[in-house]
Amino acid sequence: MKAVILAGGSGTRLYPTTLVVNKHLLPIYNKPMIYYPLSIAMLLGISEVGIVVNPQDLAAFKSLLSDGSWLGMKIQFFEQDKPRGLADGLIVCKDFVDDSNLLYILGDNILFGHDLVKVLKEGAERVLKQGGACVFGYYVNDPTRFGVVEFDESGNVLSVEEKPSKPRSNYAIVGLYFFDKAACEIARSVKPSERGELEITSVLEEYLKMNKLFAKVIGRGFAWFDAGTHDSFLEAGEFVARIEQRTGLMIGCVEEIAFRNGWIDKNSLINLAKPLSKTSYGQYLMRIAGEKP
Ligand code: TTP
Repeated sequence: MKAVILAGGSGTRLYPTTLVVNKHLLPIYNKPMIYYPLSIAMLLGISEVGIVVNPQDLAAFKSLLSDGSWLGMKIQFFEQDKPRGLADGLIVCKDFVDDSNLLYILGDNILFGHDLVKVLKEGAERVLKQGGACVFGYYVNDPTRFGVVEFDESGNVLSVEEKPSKPRSNYAIVGLYFFDKAACEIARSVKPSERGELEITSVLEEYLKMNKLFAKVIGRGFAWFDAGTHDSFLEAGEFVARIEQRTGLMIGCVEEIAFRNGWIDKNSLINLAKPLSKTSYGQYLMRIAGEKP
């Protein structure tokens, strides 16, 4: 399985900060936002990742992540010349995805919780076994602001709606999906919505028509942030800070995950930690490597 992370877009909800800086390079507490979706792919054991970026931000992303080899990964960048919508990333990355199954993540969605990887893996396995697509539903009080999914006890999806005025369920669709290899072709066939974007909901609707759309619940005890507004951005950073300070363990620390996955060795980890030695981040990496900070 490969992963694609969407890190383009306009970021208008974070203006004026994102007038000149890409949202996904801003820090959520102590690391760039892009580390969080990247770490989800890594925790699922996915080492081949495509990142969709705006042309003006390509250089910054490359200088941060290069080709991924420092993490024992293969990272490639794909330019989206305009933010045409969430489904457009599937078209931009078509050749990269090729015949693979796909983890597709919105770059500003931050997920955290005990057993998160287990729940996500169950969704991935359903797609690997049966084909189709899997979405994750998160119970919210006000579903009208979200994509909403309705499903039966077996996780078969009955409907998907984009920001409905009368939602059929309280389950918001989180910004992380598993797709089989049909997704890119489907994305090419969808028409722009009224707001002129290629909507991910349209892709999901096509899977639904084929009875191949499944849902899993990301239950209580999981945190989910779309860090795309001033308040949610701050809230996500504060959340990460509180959890890390309390547990002494980091969320979204890509070097640690690469090391624990066996993708980089102890010496490489120490070398990555050294330039960061003035920070608790670097000291943490030293601790993970079994060295005194
Ligand atoms: P959105 O939050 O829907 O849009 P945005 O980031 O452009 O922000 P705003 O609404 O404030 O203008 O995007 C969700 C994620 O997908 C986000 O991480 C950016 C990314 N994205 C793309 O990579 N390409 C796109 O064409 C769009 C619309 C979003």
